[in-house]
Amino acid sequence: MDERKRNIFIVDDEEPIRKVLNTHLTKEGFNVIQTQGGNGVFETLTQNTFDLVISDIRMPEVDGIRVLEFVKANFDTVPVVMLTGLTDISIAIDVMKKGAFDFLMKPVKKDELMAVVHKALLTRDLLERNKELEVENKEYQLFLEQKVRERTKELNSKAMELQRAYGVLKSMNIQFVNVLAETIEAKDRHTRGHCNRMRYLCVELGRQAGLSPEDLETLEYASLLHDLGKIGINEAVLNKEGPLTGDECTHIKAHTEIGEKILIGIPLMEQVAKIIVAHHENFDGTGYPRNLKGDDIPFCSRIIAVADIYDAMSSDRPYRKGLPLEAVIEEMRRVSGTQLDPELVGIFIEKKVYLFNKN
Ligand SMILES: [Fe+2]
Repeated sequence: MDERKRNIFIVDDEEPIRKVLNTHLTKEGFNVIQTQGGNGVFETLTQNTFDLVISDIRMPEVDGIRVLEFVKANFDTVPVVMLTGLTDISIAIDVMKKGAFDFLMKPVKKDELMAVVHKALLTRDLLERNKELEVENKEYQLFLEQKVRERTKELNSKAMELQRAYGVLKSMNIQFVNVLAETIEAKDRHTRGHCNRMRYLCVELGRQAGLSPEDLETLEYASLLHDLGKIGINEAVLNKEGPLTGDECTHIKAHTEIGEKILIGIPLMEQVAKIIVAHHENFDGTGYPRNLKGDDIPFCSRIIAVADIYDAMSSDRPYRKGLPLEAVIEEMRRVSGTQLDPELVGIFIEKKVYLFNKN
């Protein structure tokens, strides 16, 4: 119980009762305001702050039930103790049901009075403290919600920043890869523009075959870099007119594994390395360097093989014109299932992927 002086309101039409109560309570250090009842009760209750109301039940004009209801409706933490005569016991039970804290029998004994008063005030304190905690809890809740909102806003803006930075990095990355691809082409005079055409053909074939955006991105890099290993091939062999010797053939074939070696240690390029090493594998297992077969060949490598054969046959070379579309398609159908994945050849022709043959 806190230390301030407590205000107790006594409502009873019988003056001797009020007097007894007043004497006991004042002696115990309480502040007592008393009234005989009537409509002034409500005004007094509104204009003062009470810690406890002790009210008679049977009174002319305004009875105790109305006092009780008024207090419960307007000051929900203030306990109300009802006073009752012996004959009113059923009424006393009724008022308890209506929210009275307790009741005292007249004539009121001091011990009983003090026990009920202390118990009522303790309850009042607990209810008040509970109310304060509810307010504090609500404020803390609002504070937390505000913090979460601020933090979310901060994180969103950071995420957008990262997204922008990632966009810049990605575009720089693809530009570097492009430069690298052009460097490879510069070594091999037969294949000008080949890498860029491969990029468009492969990405479109990959899209038609249902690849995810992430796989399409990997495929885009792999298509540009599939002949990266030609960096390690002798230019004289690469640009030789006429048939190659067995050794020269073996030397050129090494470009698949050289490309893999260059990329294998670079983070984010592991997948690309696995794809480019297998771009000369044949569907029937007769390709190189590892004689992989069917589904053992990475899907993107099979895509590159389809686009590669299309581009090799359809583009002009210094020593010959490119073949007409019908002839290229006929040849692709012929090697479908042996050199190339038949399903991908089907998609390439049916979806007219060759229209994406851009320079
Ligand atoms: Fe190649």
